[in-house]
Amino acid sequence: MKILGIESSCDDTSVALVEASDARVVVLAEKTASQIEVHKKYGGVVPEIAGRKHAENMLPVLEEVMNGYEPPDAIAVTSGPGLLTGLLVGVEVAKALSYLWNVPMVRTNHIEGHIYSILLQENEKPVINTPTIHFPALCLIVSGGHTELVLMTDHGVYEKLGGTRDDAVGECFDKIAKLLGLDYPGGPKVSQLAEQGNTTAIAFPRPMITSPDFDMSFSGLKTAALYWLQDNSDLLYRDSSTSDDSAQDDIKINTVTIHDFCASFEQAIVDVLVKKTKKAMEMYHPKTLILSGGVSANPKLREALSQLTAAFPDCQFRRPLPQYCMDNAAMIAMAGYYHAKNNDYTDWKTVLADPQWHIYPTL
Ligand code: KG4
Ligand code: ZN
Repeated sequence: MKILGIESSCDDTSVALVEASDARVVVLAEKTASQIEVHKKYGGVVPEIAGRKHAENMLPVLEEVMNGYEPPDAIAVTSGPGLLTGLLVGVEVAKALSYLWNVPMVRTNHIEGHIYSILLQENEKPVINTPTIHFPALCLIVSGGHTELVLMTDHGVYEKLGGTRDDAVGECFDKIAKLLGLDYPGGPKVSQLAEQGNTTAIAFPRPMITSPDFDMSFSGLKTAALYWLQDNSDLLYRDSSTSDDSAQDDIKINTVTIHDFCASFEQAIVDVLVKKTKKAMEMYHPKTLILSGGVSANPKLREALSQLTAAFPDCQFRRPLPQYCMDNAAMIAMAGYYHAKNNDYTDWKTVLADPQWHIYPTL
């Protein structure tokens, strides 16, 4: 089945044409227009600008992807959660195409898309032999807008176990990066700087790490990092390799590098995520552990969860390829495929963008 995926929930206008079956996936064509350069100067995504840029980029991106291809068998479009301004562009374009081509539509959830991104594994690109998701699967979704632990008992069947009560992990990385003067999105830069740092240099708090539930909180950690910077910025120097060794010999003991700061901060986040995931694995005995969302690109988190899974022989660890960690339309097409297989289509006339759409039942 050929599925056209459309994603525009945040700052990436992405379109992909995917040919999918249960065992094999071919990404026939894909294109993403990133808006990072535009939002960089504001230090974060500006919804109004994002909507305008999606409107500008959507048709050229679509034209490039569909060039030489017949209309697909289904159209999967991100209908939520996300920024309304962006969602509307994708949803309205998908509705128009559904009407014009007479092709059914799948209303696709962005978070579900991140979960299914793990099926886009590379063998001989563009042909992908998809790994199977064995159920129950435990999903840790960590992105700029979400931090959630979700139990998946079948395709499309989810139960939320817990999640952040305040900031999402990616948001936290980005805010700290901004304080350090790094460009948006700062998560990848913080994790790069952390590579050469000492994870125990600063004892940052791990809020809620021992709470009896699966909930988390990261705003306290963010504030602790802010206060540390305010109190100690004189100790923090940017590049140890360019500093004058002879002049700083006597202050070295007290000096923390930007690498140490990032490593300590990152370790605090990873510790909380791993502890909560471990607790859920002990309770629910998943056969697959899925890590996804933009922060799943973080090497420390990937390694820590890989090590954790090694202690659970019945569980396989799955995470996306680096190119499918961030928002992309191929993952939306994959999630759409599993709905299309079950004839779970929505008439284009009734498809709505819903910025708060959850995949699991809420109270
Ligand atoms: O899933 P995504 O592309 O967009 C949302 O749905 O939010 O995730 C983007 C987030 C940003 O906050 C970005 O800083 C973060 O993922 N991110 C990382 C890394 N790579 C991306 N955070 C920490 N370490 C990374 N290596
Ligand atoms: Zn995302």
